[in-house]
Amino acid sequence: NLVYVLNGPNLNLLGTREPEIYGSETLDDIAAMLDDRARELGLEVDVRQSNHEGHLVDWLHEARADGAKAVLLNAGAYTHTSIALLDAIRAIGVPVIEVHLSDPSSREAFRHVSYVGMAAVDEVKGLGAHGYVVALEKAAAL
Ligand code: DQA
Repeated sequence: NLVYVLNGPNLNLLGTREPEIYGSETLDDIAAMLDDRARELGLEVDVRQSNHEGHLVDWLHEARADGAKAVLLNAGAYTHTSIALLDAIRAIGVPVIEVHLSDPSSREAFRHVSYVGMAAVDEVKGLGAHGYVVALEKAAAL
């Protein structure tokens, strides 16, 4: 009943990073919210963050090796650039739910493409930190 929650570049700065777009919760705050909700849902979350694309690829592989039930993935800007993440999601056979704090489709045109979204089973965007909890509930229902 393990759910990986993988966060990409610059999400370590949540709380101080463009709070008018991303909100004032830190990634630790989000991890705490997810822990609480996971306990209620009978799940366990493993929340990680990296600024390095390859770490995210390695962690997607690890999710399969670990028998994870699902992955919540906020790949940050790699969402819009990374064929490597798209291929990894297709390779692992573990359902991935795409998460964004903001709604990239209502921002700059370069955020309108999502390679993650081409392989994800579902998405939650534009709900801020609470979106991670919504995504966890979707994972529980898979
Ligand atoms: C983001 C949206 C991306 O476009 C951006 O590059 C991020 C954060 C979000 O959570 O809203 O780093 O993934």
